[in-house]
Amino acid sequence: MRFEAFSRKAADQRCDCLVVGVFERGELGGQAQAVDRAMRGRIRALLARGDFSGRAGETLLLTEPVAIKAARLLLVGVGGKAQYNRRAWRRALGHAVSALARTRVASAALSLESPGGRELDDFYFGRAVAEGTGNSLYRVNDLKSARKPRPPALSRVLCGPVSSSALGAVRRGLAAGAAVSESSRLLRNLGNLPANICTPRYLAAQARDLERSYRRRLRVRIFDEAAIRRLKMGCFLAVTRGSEEPPRFIVLEYRGARRSRAPVVLVGKGVTFDTGGISLKDPGNMDEMKFDMCGAATVLAAIDFAARSELRINVVGLIPTCENMPSGRAIKPGDIVTSASGQTVEILNTDAEGRLILCDALNYARRFDPEVVVDFATLTGACVIALGNHFTGVMGNDDALARELVEAGARTDDRAWQLPLTEDYADQLRSNFADMANIGGREGGAITAAAFLGKFTQGLKWAHMDIAGTAWHGGAAKGASGRPISLVADFLTRRAGG
Ligand code: BES
Ligand code: MN
Ligand code: ZN
Repeated sequence: MRFEAFSRKAADQRCDCLVVGVFERGELGGQAQAVDRAMRGRIRALLARGDFSGRAGETLLLTEPVAIKAARLLLVGVGGKAQYNRRAWRRALGHAVSALARTRVASAALSLESPGGRELDDFYFGRAVAEGTGNSLYRVNDLKSARKPRPPALSRVLCGPVSSSALGAVRRGLAAGAAVSESSRLLRNLGNLPANICTPRYLAAQARDLERSYRRRLRVRIFDEAAIRRLKMGCFLAVTRGSEEPPRFIVLEYRGARRSRAPVVLVGKGVTFDTGGISLKDPGNMDEMKFDMCGAATVLAAIDFAARSELRINVVGLIPTCENMPSGRAIKPGDIVTSASGQTVEILNTDAEGRLILCDALNYARRFDPEVVVDFATLTGACVIALGNHFTGVMGNDDALARELVEAGARTDDRAWQLPLTEDYADQLRSNFADMANIGGREGGAITAAAFLGKFTQGLKWAHMDIAGTAWHGGAAKGASGRPISLVADFLTRRAGG
């Protein structure tokens, strides 16, 4: 997909289809007004006849419009004028691209006006156009045997008119958004794959593929079970015991800055399937536990983004990956294991496995002397109860870092919300038999999970992102959402000073 910005009048832009927005009750925005004037009132006439209402999501494709350079005109309803904001604009963009994808339009000029001002600056306008286009064109990598429908013809998206002073920022935004949408596709594809294909070894092979794509700046190391044992990752190994599928510990090192600069370390939970183990989950929706590796996929996508964008920053990705299965060899409630940090853990619930694989990876992060450490994990159902599916939970031991992540989410509409992680919560992890238990009861479950991780990140600047509610959609639209790659891409870009 090519993205370009243009500054000539929309009516004069040559392309297969021009897209303009119409408010509810037939009010025209500035761009639609200009196009309507060029067309000598044809759009108003059509609205007056009641053929189009401007309701959010409504689209109407007109062929061979007069007096404009485009071969087609697509009207998109953007809803009420008073409520027109960034969210309405993003939705309208999505509807427009979906409508275009059902046609043979190859080049489209998007002239949906930005809500502008404080709602959306020029860079994020461009970024959102490219990212939104990519998201709307994404098709699930399904394994249906019927012949695949023809892919959309759309290959060139022009956006404008953009004032000449804004052109630079919009173009940079378009390039950034295009990169985010490529990385987002990687994340979603990995998330959507079933667990019999997307195994720990498969994720390791994906990391190797990235290494091949970005050979100059990316180095990948993969530890097998024996190597993980040599690292003394007793908590991680405990989770892997019940599975026939061998675990992997994946280390990716992207070098975009001088060697002396401390890296950002990203850690991702890679449970390729979570049955709960001996503390077996209920069967309803258990299939969705194939998404329990979305933290790992976020880290792969983030490294892909950094390398693709050649960010001037060093980023290390750490991915502990395994299955959580019940079997005669599986860990049992009450078992006590020793983490790589030396701390002992009583495993009271084998379904609280994410924190067990993460704690050993977080401990490993120390050897990089990191600037900051951020982990991504579909960690707790409790986080979904607390925040629903709209906000990713952020916790950690450094408020400035948590704020940085929350703000990156606000800029990119990939929203996150900080939950308090004070010492109080760690008390719930007390065990009579080991240094700590792996669960802390029902109350504040998202936070006690973070408190567990906090016992392995002392002295590090660390944040934890619980993406259990945001990484995938359930129900009819079941599939990986691509979150939180947009947030992470923005976070890394700013840290790189770009
Ligand atoms: N992967 C799950 C968390 C999860 C559950 C994410 C449902 C999204 C939807 C995690 O491994 C888990 O099972 N957590 C337990 C922890 C509990 C045993 C303390 C949970 O949330 O029930
Ligand atoms: Mn679990
Ligand atoms: Zn899990």
